[in-house]
Amino acid sequence: MKVEVKQADLAGAGAELAVVGLFEGGELPGEIASAPGADEARSGFKKLSLLRPEGFPPVLVVGLGEREEFGLEELRVVGAVAAKEAARLEVGSIAWALPDPDNADAAEALVTGTILASYRFDRFKSDRENDDSPRLLESLTLLGPAEIEDAAMTGRVAAEAQNRARDLQSTPANVATPTFLAERAEEIATGFDAVSAEVLSRSEIEAKKMGGLLAVSQGGPQEPKLIVLRYSGGGSGPTLGLVGKGVTFDTGGISLKPGAGMPDMKMDMSGAAAVLEAVAAIAELGLALDLIAVVPSTENMPSGTAVKPGDIITQYNGKTVEVNNTDAEGRLILADALAYAIEQGAERIVDLATLTGAVVIALGSTYAAVIANDDALAEEVIEAGADSGELAWRLPLHPEYKQLMKGKFADLSNLAAKRKAGTITAGAFLEEFVGETPWAHVDIAGTAWDVGREYVGNGASGFGVRLLVELARHHSTT
Ligand code: BES
Ligand code: ZN
Ligand code: ZN
Repeated sequence: MKVEVKQADLAGAGAELAVVGLFEGGELPGEIASAPGADEARSGFKKLSLLRPEGFPPVLVVGLGEREEFGLEELRVVGAVAAKEAARLEVGSIAWALPDPDNADAAEALVTGTILASYRFDRFKSDRENDDSPRLLESLTLLGPAEIEDAAMTGRVAAEAQNRARDLQSTPANVATPTFLAERAEEIATGFDAVSAEVLSRSEIEAKKMGGLLAVSQGGPQEPKLIVLRYSGGGSGPTLGLVGKGVTFDTGGISLKPGAGMPDMKMDMSGAAAVLEAVAAIAELGLALDLIAVVPSTENMPSGTAVKPGDIITQYNGKTVEVNNTDAEGRLILADALAYAIEQGAERIVDLATLTGAVVIALGSTYAAVIANDDALAEEVIEAGADSGELAWRLPLHPEYKQLMKGKFADLSNLAAKRKAGTITAGAFLEEFVGETPWAHVDIAGTAWDVGREYVGNGASGFGVRLLVELARHHSTT
C-alpha cells in the first residue's frame, strides 16, 4: 500500500475519501461541522457516519469512543474499520485526519490497522477481476507533521511483512513445501546486501546428525530443509537468534490427527513464516543488530517409513529422545534448530512455534504463551508484544516440569507423563537444548490464525512479525 504523510487539510489531501475520528463529547473540524448530517455523526467506538459536505470529497466519520479508553490498539481497530468501509464504498485512496497528529506511535498503529485490514488471500482464485469481493484500499495519506513519517514507514514495512507471512501461512502444503520456504529465504537474501541465506539439504542434515528433523521428515517424500538467514546490521549488542517451526503440514504422523480441522495444519509453519518475514522487515528497516534465523522445515507424514511411537532418536546436541507421540514433532525439529543456532553464534534466542493445542485452551487467541529461562528476555518479549499489540503471557518453568519429560529408556520423552501442563512441558523439553543461553519460547498455536480481531479477522494472522520487529528495535543499538 502507498503510505504518505502530508501537511494538508481535509480538502487538500487529494484522496477519494477523507476520514476523521470523533470522540464522545468531541467536535468535528470546522470545515465539515456544517455539512448535512454532521450533528448526527456518531461518536461511539467503531460507529460510522458518512458526510457529503459541499466542495469536499465525502468524509467518513469514525467514532472513537471515550478519550480515556482510547489507545494504540483502538487506533489499529479504527484504522481497520475505516479501511474496510473504504473498500465497501469502492474507494481506492483515503486521507486520515489523525486524532492526535503529532503522536508517532499513533501514526504507526493506524498504518498497521489499515494495511492488515486491506488484505485478502486470493492467489488461487482464477477470476479475481470478476469476483464480487470489494476493491482493496491502495493508498493511505496521514494528515500530520513530517516528524511522524518514520513511524508511518516503520508501520508500513512491518504490516506488509506480516501480510506476506499470512500469504506463506495460507499457501497450501502442496505448494508451500520446505523447498518453497527455502526459496523464499533465498529471495529475501537476494533482496538485501546485509542478508545471506544458507539451506541445508537432507544429506547435509544427515551429515550433521540432526536426528529430530530427520525423524520427522522420514515419513514423507518432501525433502526437509534447515534454512538459515544471517543479517549483519552491525550495532554493539548481542547476536539475536530467531527460530521458527516450519512444519509445512502436520498430519500427526503415525499418531494421526483426527480429520476435522486438519486442513489448518498447512499453517503449522506459522513460526517459520513470521521469522522469515520479520528478518525481511528488519533488513528493510536497516536495524542496527546482528541476527541469525534458523528455520527447520519438514512435513509430518504417516507411512511405512515414518518414525514410530517408541522410536529413540539422537538430537543434534547428542541427547536421546523417545518419540512417544509422533504428533509432538515440533519440539523434535526445534531442538536441533535451537542447538544449531546457538552453535552458530546466537547469544540470546527467541523461538516461535505453533507447538501445542493446550495453549489454545489456556490463553485462546488473545495471548501467545512465553516460556523462558531468563527473566530479562521474557520481559523484553512481553514488552515487545504489548508495544506491537501482539500480546504474550508468561507461563512458569518449574523444575518439576522437567521431570515430566524424562524418558523411560532414553534421556527424554517427547510426551509428558499424563499429558500434564502441555504447553509448559513442551517448553521444558526445549530448554534441554539451549544450555545457559538466554532463551524465550513463544507458543503461537492459539494466535497464528482465527484470531478474530478487527484488523486480522479470521484465517492466517501473521502473528509474531510485529513482535519480532519490535524486539529487534529494542536490540538495535544506534
Ligand atoms: N501442530 C500441533 C499443535 C497445534 C494444535 C497447533 C492446534 C495449532 C492448533 C503440534 O504439533 C501438536 O500436534 N501437538 C500436540 C502435542 C501432544 C501430542 C503432546 C498437541 O498439542 O496435541
Ligand atoms: Zn503435531
Ligand atoms: Zn505441529
